[in-house]
Amino acid sequence: MNTPGHELLRTPETALLRERDASLRELNSFGLPALARLLVRVRSEADVRRVLADPECGAAPKLVLGGGSNIVFTRDPQAVVLRVEVRGRRLLAERPDAWIVEAGAGETWHDLVQWTLAQGWPGLENLALIPGTVGAAPVQNIGAYGVELKDRFESLDAVDLVTGRTVTLDARACGFGYRDSVFKRPAHDGGLAGKSLITRVRLRLARPWQPALGYLELERRMAETGNTAPTAGTIFEWVCAIRRAKLPDPAQVGNAGSFFKNPIVSAEQCRDIIGRDPEIVHYPLPDGSVKLAAGWLIDACGWKGKSIGRAGVYERQALVLVNRGGASGAEVVTLARAIQESVYGRFGIRLEPEPVII
Ligand code: EPU
Repeated sequence: MNTPGHELLRTPETALLRERDASLRELNSFGLPALARLLVRVRSEADVRRVLADPECGAAPKLVLGGGSNIVFTRDPQAVVLRVEVRGRRLLAERPDAWIVEAGAGETWHDLVQWTLAQGWPGLENLALIPGTVGAAPVQNIGAYGVELKDRFESLDAVDLVTGRTVTLDARACGFGYRDSVFKRPAHDGGLAGKSLITRVRLRLARPWQPALGYLELERRMAETGNTAPTAGTIFEWVCAIRRAKLPDPAQVGNAGSFFKNPIVSAEQCRDIIGRDPEIVHYPLPDGSVKLAAGWLIDACGWKGKSIGRAGVYERQALVLVNRGGASGAEVVTLARAIQESVYGRFGIRLEPEPVII
């Protein structure tokens, strides 16, 4: 029986926001069709604990969804979908060596970049216009134009999806790698994939600010404009312009950014490939290995602008697969496999997808 006391417990603040048979099409940047049997919007750590205490959700498998900009749905997820909508951003500390900024996992990454710059706390300008949320940024250690999230990272809070306990993880505990972290690695690999939900991220923006201008395209801008000492605001503008020129806006053309990671090969393998393809774009790494430009490899195989069904390879950047309108996840994966086969056939290199494939 419903006593008035029970009713009080069901105020909007304590009730879970749940939707049944929710379409995920608008919640993934590729615009792929998929249905969540149950979608729960998580707005606080307390919400996560409510999910765990809930008879329907508590024991069920869970899929954590941020901005949906790094995920490919090939089918309906067999899990309760937890859409992270934790908001808020603030300056946590102003130290002589850094500004420490904290943001809720559900905040939009680019808005945070803009906001910090407007407040006079530079440091995130090279990471402008990266789609997705703040909470997703550490999962794949987002990076662009010479800066990775790990270079600006202080710590994060995450809720353990079994115990409901909040833990604080520093950079070491996050195990950041190239487009990788402990949150992407499965449990059998010592990882936390599917085991925790990031609620808050803290960034360390070093003082005095130092521009990161080592990336070729930024050097080119400096040469073109004659401005060799750009402000953080100028770098932000340059990065936005470079991205707009070669990456499709997910609001217009469905995509998940780079579809493959740039492969890393041994110096010997690289010499071999250079022998056959002297033009190959490659970057030597400090440990002696060499990073190859996956976009170049795909382009060299003639894929730029091509399509299979309604999935295509973007005309201006072969590393980006796009939804040409109404594509299914299966079509995207078919195209990805065909690309992997031709790159393997010609160069003997296996390309590894960057987004999470469901
Ligand atoms: N290239 C081609 N043809 C192409 C695409 C690229 O020849 O179709 C060549 C370019 O000329 C360039 C090289 O490949 O010499 C590298 O291209 P670019 O500078 O555009 O960078 P990328 O390696 O393709 C990486 C990240 C991007 C990030 C940019 C800028 C990965 C997987 N991708 O792309 O990240 O914005 O560098 O730092 O590391 C993402 O992760 O979603 C993403 C967009």
